Amino acid sequence: MQKVAIYPGSFDPITNGHISIIKRALKVVDKLIVVVAENSEKNPLFKIEERVKLIADLGIENTHVKSFKGLLVDCAKQENVNIVIRGLRAVSDFDYEFQLALANRRMNRELETVFLMTDYKYSYLSSSMLKDMAKYGGNIEGLVPENVKNKLKERFLSYGDN
Ligand code: COA
Repeated sequence: MQKVAIYPGSFDPITNGHISIIKRALKVVDKLIVVVAENSEKNPLFKIEERVKLIADLGIENTHVKSFKGLLVDCAKQENVNIVIRGLRAVSDFDYEFQLALANRRMNRELETVFLMTDYKYSYLSSSMLKDMAKYGGNIEGLVPENVKNKLKERFLSYGDN
């Protein structure tokens, strides 16, 4: 039987840090559903459809991308999946992730969250930091795939050459 997991996040936008988690997750599961979810606390730069497209265009094998509005547990149920992948960058991520995993497990006892450590090269990286770097002309080479770099460039055209 195929082992399938979901990897949820805001992905606003996807970075090489997320991609490294996707690739490593695919070493433990056969198929990964990347779920671009709404986080009600955030005000995203890219529309959910744009975020989905940026990931889908990467064409990562054994990966399917979709958007979801609502509770993660409902998304998992809809996809018939019991494994959630989350990346941990540093100890500072732990409190929030612990809270999220426990809240999800309270709503669905079958749901297991599996944490993978983010590649040390990207352990400081976040989508917000990346957007700031891109906005003010910082060098984002090596931090995002080419399509994301171009999309950021297009969005922040008036701010610099990056
Ligand atoms: N590489 C680079 N950056 C990483 C990373 C990695 N490996 N892992 C995490 N991050 C960054 C993200 O870029 C993001 O940065 P940002 O805050 O600047 O945007 C940050 O870490 C954490 O974001 P993310 O992993 O996208 O999680 P999130 O907190 O935005 O969203 C959801 C988490 C979508 C899974 C969660 O909000 C959710 O499940 N929402 C649905 C409602 C629900 O069910 N809530 C829970 C029960 S009440």
